[in-house]
Amino acid sequence: MSKICVIGTGYVGLVTGTCFADMGNDVTCVDIVEEKIARLKRGEVPIYEPGLAEMIARNVRAGRLHFTTSYREGLADSEFIFIAVNTPTGSTQGSADMRYVEMAARMIAEELDHYAVIINKSTVPVGSGDVVTRIIRTHLARPDVSFAVVSNPEFLREGAAIQDFLNPDRVVLGSSDMEAAHRVAALYLPLRAPIIMTDIYTAEMIKYASNAFLATKISFINEIAQICERLGADVKEVAVGMGYDKRIGRAFLDAGLGYGGSCFPKDVRALAHMADEAGLHPQLLHAVMEINQDQRRLVVDKLVSILGSLRNATIGILGLAFKANTDDMREAPSLDIIRWVTGQGALVRAYDPVARETARQAMEREGIRLDLVTFCSNAYEVAEQADAIIIVTDWNEFKSLDMVQIRNLMRRPVLIDGRNIYEPREMVSLGFTYRGIGRGTGPAATVLPASDSTTLPPAPTCERTLIGE
Ligand code: UDX
Repeated sequence: MSKICVIGTGYVGLVTGTCFADMGNDVTCVDIVEEKIARLKRGEVPIYEPGLAEMIARNVRAGRLHFTTSYREGLADSEFIFIAVNTPTGSTQGSADMRYVEMAARMIAEELDHYAVIINKSTVPVGSGDVVTRIIRTHLARPDVSFAVVSNPEFLREGAAIQDFLNPDRVVLGSSDMEAAHRVAALYLPLRAPIIMTDIYTAEMIKYASNAFLATKISFINEIAQICERLGADVKEVAVGMGYDKRIGRAFLDAGLGYGGSCFPKDVRALAHMADEAGLHPQLLHAVMEINQDQRRLVVDKLVSILGSLRNATIGILGLAFKANTDDMREAPSLDIIRWVTGQGALVRAYDPVARETARQAMEREGIRLDLVTFCSNAYEVAEQADAIIIVTDWNEFKSLDMVQIRNLMRRPVLIDGRNIYEPREMVSLGFTYRGIGRGTGPAATVLPASDSTTLPPAPTCERTLIGE
């Protein structure tokens, strides 16, 4: 059992602290926001994350998980201090705002009275490990105290955070102090994951490069989707066909409205900014960001091309959160889409299974006219008298709606499927004017398991016309 302090109770901090407690360690989570800590002490979890509330309650009951606003209390006897505060986009051209990390480093320095390993989990620009070391050294209240700094980027996804933390594909540790890095490695040994030990700059870069690569995969498939649309191919089947190639893999090849959330947008921007600052011009990263923004606009263009004008039209929005299984609205495509359609005179009826309050707050912050938005309590209510519906988030409950009922409730049966969850032919046969992202209308492809590949299915009647025929 180790004594651990985690600074910051956002997604990463709260999940890290809770999971380490669940692994038998004694963990204190520190946050300077009193209201957050008060809520956690009352057993209320400030974020929606499946399984987290139960895990927190279990570990609090077992006396292994504590919450405080006091650095002194959190740091007392802690061998490991994790910094897991947020690094939002700063004011200059996508740079990462290091304010909270620097503040945490200073507060640690003011209270630290024994040797500890300080581990940075926040996504920070390459070279920040040195900044943290310098700040702590400068502000140490007890200059005789020694410490080590280790970078340990976190790769968990919202909505699958506990599962991802406890079953990581890899653990990355970067430090100039290998003994300290080995101590941190020991914390992760029960997870039986590959552990990569490297220098601090490389560890910081691994996080940015991983997120940027995944974002690139998404923008790549979105560009392919646009080409598919023009040439009559179906991007969903293209992704399946590509995904069987082990060098490519099927994950993150879902074409749609592009990426949102707290990580990809800000990390790609920050990496591009770092490269720009270093005198480079990272063309690919800039293209990735441009394509991502285009995806949102294309959906509204599709709407306009079908409805003509949006003035006085009622547009149904299914899903507000940036992705399923979260109430997080950060950089959610729904915000841009609602801003644009209301800007063109439309009224919006919106529903999300979880993101309601967070959606309302985000819209207010973004200056969206809330008087034009009606929040509904289910998908069928959204459909009432709607001139079109846009599926924005792929929540499971949107995947098996009674589409006949939906169609009958709508004023005009127009369905823009921003997450490709329905089959184009089926929707057309139900009477919808349907637009997915990069969906052709050819016969669905069949994939046989390898062992059955000698028995071929009857050849489908191909209705596609080849270009040039
Ligand atoms: C991501 C990374 O996956 C994680 O490793 C990192 O620590 C934080 O950022 P998260 O933002 O929680 O996690 O969500 P993720 O599930 O990765 O999805 C990111 C965005 O990409 C979502 O908006 C999602 O809708 C979109 N996406 C994902 C696609 O558009 N297509 C895909 O194929 C996959």
